[in-house]
Amino acid sequence: GGEAGLGRMAEPLEIVAAAEAILKPGARPLAGHHVLVTSGPTHEPIDPVRYIANRSSGKQGHAIAAAAASAGARVTLVSGPVTIADPAGATTVHVETARQMLEAVEAALPADIAIMAAAVADWRAAEESDAKLKKDGTGTVAPLPLVQNPDILATLGRHHTLRPDLVIGFAAETNDLKAHAEAKLRSKGADWILANDVSPETGVMGGDDNTIHLVTTSGVEAWPKMTKTEVAARLVERIADRLGKSGSGA
Ligand code: CTP
Repeated sequence: GGEAGLGRMAEPLEIVAAAEAILKPGARPLAGHHVLVTSGPTHEPIDPVRYIANRSSGKQGHAIAAAAASAGARVTLVSGPVTIADPAGATTVHVETARQMLEAVEAALPADIAIMAAAVADWRAAEESDAKLKKDGTGTVAPLPLVQNPDILATLGRHHTLRPDLVIGFAAETNDLKAHAEAKLRSKGADWILANDVSPETGVMGGDDNTIHLVTTSGVEAWPKMTKTEVAARLVERIADRLGKSGSGA
């Protein structure tokens, strides 16, 4: 229609706002750092028409990638299949399965900061069928053997040679949020976990808001309910503070 699409110039006032944001003193606290983000679900094929997946819109991970890019970081976003647009300012690598996601994450190393926001499917079909699996008419459910997928966050958290300085994961829980998040912090070798309650009544899954508990080895910080964009901005602030304190900030 001529109003939107590839090649259409952004509105001049948007360009001015973006330029002002970049030029504001202290506006690029992550400049000089490589931030690696995962986002979205993974799809694990069963046969050519079926797959196993977790529910995930990619909104939170994409917002984090965008916020890190606006803060001056070089951002690599490894995204599973989502319907939202690639964030501006990040290099986005599109993958489908957990194994492809792990491969893309490892290929993007070294990174200074890793933020693993993807809802990776924990299991995949032990064998992907080349042909569509058919019902046999008896009503019997065919067995579907599953094997566990690699844990991308734990792989980075325990990486022997290229562990990012700051490894951040999420914990999607429906109960005992803090206890489960603290267990994930330890078991995956992460530095921080952003725990969120994803029970259906919270509307977090697919929605625009999130309520986070930031769990670190030094304690738990409860953040009020805010938009996923605000969560991303606050996380970037926390990262910038941490870089400042460790003296490695730009
Ligand atoms: N994660 C990952 N690779 C996996 C599974 C999870 O990188 N194969 C990461 C997620 O991106 C997230 C964190 O681990 O940062 C926790 O994910 P979550 O789904 O909450 O937990 P699980 O590890 O899957 O554990 P469980 O299903 O038992 O709660």
